[in-house]
Amino acid sequence: MTDKELYRIAKEMTKMSYAPFSHFCVGAALECKDGTVFTGCNVENSSLGATMCAERTAMCKAISEGHRDFAKVMITSSGGEAWPCGICRQFMKEFCDDDFIIMTAADEDHIRRYTMDEILPEGFRLRGEAFGETF
Ligand code: THU
Repeated sequence: MTDKELYRIAKEMTKMSYAPFSHFCVGAALECKDGTVFTGCNVENSSLGATMCAERTAMCKAISEGHRDFAKVMITSSGGEAWPCGICRQFMKEFCDDDFIIMTAADEDHIRRYTMDEILPEGFRLRGEAFGETF
């Protein structure tokens, strides 16, 4: 799928957002390496700390459906670009290879692209050869 198509899906997902506290409606579209796309929106909570971000929603949907090989994610909001919070950067790090691309865009002609290493340098995770395991 093209990045513009992914942007349009993410933008459409902002309409599903539950954001009565911030009024910042976020949508995400996560593409797996096999081409499957999972969507997400932010789901806020009266206990603000329980809020779920759009990209984490999409990733949890994908993982719970048996998908773990991710190619790229697009995140956008009703008001323009949306930057992944620290929790989401760490969350995505758990499941993403070095070639994973994180995108945000205010509109389909202004798409910014980053690698995981750019948005979370020296990121931490407990997996890989050091543990002799593949999760
Ligand atoms: N939010 C996301 O869903 N994704 C992002 O990339 C940035 C922030 C949400 C969390 C909260 O519901 C609202 O935006 C304001 O922080």
